[in-house]
Amino acid sequence: MGRTIRIGALISGTGTNLQAIIDSCESGKINGKIVFVGSDTPNARGLEKGTRLGIPAFVVNYGSIIRDFKKNPATVVPPDDFDLNDLISKQTLFTAHADPETVKAFIITRAVAEAKLIDEMRHYPFDLLVLAGYMRNLSPYFIERVNTDPDIPRIMNIHPALLPAFPGVDGYGDTFRYGCKIGGCTVHFVDYGEDSGPIIGQKAYEILEDDTIDSIRAKGLKLEWALYPECVKLFAQGRLKTVHRSYELKDGRKMRRTVVKILPSPEY
Ligand code: GRF
Repeated sequence: MGRTIRIGALISGTGTNLQAIIDSCESGKINGKIVFVGSDTPNARGLEKGTRLGIPAFVVNYGSIIRDFKKNPATVVPPDDFDLNDLISKQTLFTAHADPETVKAFIITRAVAEAKLIDEMRHYPFDLLVLAGYMRNLSPYFIERVNTDPDIPRIMNIHPALLPAFPGVDGYGDTFRYGCKIGGCTVHFVDYGEDSGPIIGQKAYEILEDDTIDSIRAKGLKLEWALYPECVKLFAQGRLKTVHRSYELKDGRKMRRTVVKILPSPEY
């Protein structure tokens, strides 16, 4: 059956996806155990879901770090191993035209928050980190300290849209406003961009004439609660392999694509 994987979770909100993963671990569908629940805000209602079950929880208050930086940047001191230019060159959240001061403020405040996250997480070794409604972009500072082997990603995210359409904070709203006929959700590995990492799994729902934003959110969430545990289960079974493929266009240009291959189940 293989070993039980240790899963860390980061949340910002109600934690219904966290609950779906906890339930799948408890029922034995996932051979895994949640080892901590962290949040970027003390107001995350989902924090209770873990603490009720005795799962360690912690909060790194991003909001107060960002407010302190706005008041007086000198009071927000980056970690010792922080390299601003290196992080700026690696991040893909901002384009080359972005205001350099905005980019700098983002990278410094996130690295400060992320160093605190890493400090907390150090107490709970984990194999997989799931972002379950975590409403913060992670910077390369954090990602490269978790993905110590760049070929073996181990941070997963769930996004409420069929990526690469509608990245960002309001996937359901954006899908609805665009007038899509189908919507969906996506689980992917996290890379340096916004909701841009290699796709592990997707599920889709139909959008009908009388649907509202609330009804499509309800359809989507139901699919999220099925999809996320399925993807975590594949990870726990060691069946996810990120591969780089290339193919040639008619004009001879070489194109690259990154695919998450789902390896056959060992039972077959
Ligand atoms: C979900 O729709 C998730 O895809 C998005 O935020 C929502 C969080 O829901 N990122 P919950 O906190 O898991 O209930």
